[in-house]
Amino acid sequence: MNASILLLPGDGIGPEVVAGAERVLRAVAARFGHEFDISSALIGGAALSQGQAPLPDSTLEAARRAGAILLGAVGDPSYDTAPPSERPEAALLAIRRELALYANLRPARVWPGLESAGPLKPEVLAGTDMLIVRELTGGLYYGEPRGYADDGSSAHNTMRYSRLEVERVARRAFEAARLRRRRVTSVDKANVLETSRLWRQVVTAVGASYPDVTLEHMLVDTCAMKLAYAPSSFDVVLTENMFGDILSDEAGAVVGSLGLLPSASLGDAAGLFEPVHGSAPDIAGKDIANPIGAVASAAMLLRHALGLELEAVAVEEAIEGALTSGARTADLAGGAGQSLGTRAMAEAIADRVTAAAV
Ligand code: NAD
Ligand code: IPM
Ligand code: MN
Repeated sequence: MNASILLLPGDGIGPEVVAGAERVLRAVAARFGHEFDISSALIGGAALSQGQAPLPDSTLEAARRAGAILLGAVGDPSYDTAPPSERPEAALLAIRRELALYANLRPARVWPGLESAGPLKPEVLAGTDMLIVRELTGGLYYGEPRGYADDGSSAHNTMRYSRLEVERVARRAFEAARLRRRRVTSVDKANVLETSRLWRQVVTAVGASYPDVTLEHMLVDTCAMKLAYAPSSFDVVLTENMFGDILSDEAGAVVGSLGLLPSASLGDAAGLFEPVHGSAPDIAGKDIANPIGAVASAAMLLRHALGLELEAVAVEEAIEGALTSGARTADLAGGAGQSLGTRAMAEAIADRVTAAAV
């Protein structure tokens, strides 16, 4: 297959983990006989520091043309006091919106070998394998009106959802559940918010078309608690934009490290794939970031954007192989034993892809 893949490394550890994922994608191309035309473009603080907009027009055009997009992270503390539209994060919100990437799939599972890597007892974590389906182009992140009062004495944001916005992401969640354990937990705050009551109504109506999938509704505060004490009770978790942002970082901690979590942002056109974590300025430039979230995002890219299921599984098995053989980045080593740097971990995974039986 010939496919064009656009890399958007971004800021902080973004370029480091994307380089690791690129290394693995090149190993896939060589192992399976594909031609990947890999190019890259500026986004976030990396674009701002060149005097460009956080999402330059040329980057958006390249993204529209690409077969798939792999993004690292955006965010740079030196822009913390800039207005929202001139921050690196504005690029991420804009590209999601421009490409109509309304469904964000964030899988979180306990990887073999990492049963004790996180804060939970291994018997609590055992069997954890969930997929958070986060609505990505609506809700508080995009609602109008938003802003400050003229005198600066207050500020406001708007939480708004249309039936259509809920319906289309709910369908994605039910379809995904059909390929898994056929259970959807829809998470909202229906005891307080009208948007959540609409959410619950629409999800229930969509669920009626999927009688083979069990649907339950859960309040978001309960869900946050249950994620910590019974994470294995979840299959697909369907939720709105901000709840999904928060719960997915919690899921990262539950399975051992935020650095492990990949994501796929899907809509009606080519998808965008990115780890769930941010630019992690505290560890940037030190070759210690965990590249597994980015590498597993590349596996999701192979599966969802290019339809290369065998290749996606080969990457996931390579990650498992590296972990079961004891490879650990610093976030997973927990101070014990030797840890691998970002490059060495990506290399360990790429080597296993190269050696994979087809
Ligand atoms: P963060 O996700 O960057 O980091 C949170 C903590 O997790 C840090 O201690 C970090 O060192 C650690 N961590 C994150 N990824 C890791 C990895 N791969 N390996 C090992 N440890 C890892 O969140 P933050 O520090 O609150 O935010 C930093 C910047 O990133 C902010 O500007 C924020 O807006 C931005 N951000 C961007 C994205 C994105 O691009 N998708 C996501 C979240 C935050
Ligand atoms: C994420 C990030 C982004 C979000 C920020 C950086 C805009 O936290 O992808 O989870 O809140 O969606
Ligand atoms: Mn987040």
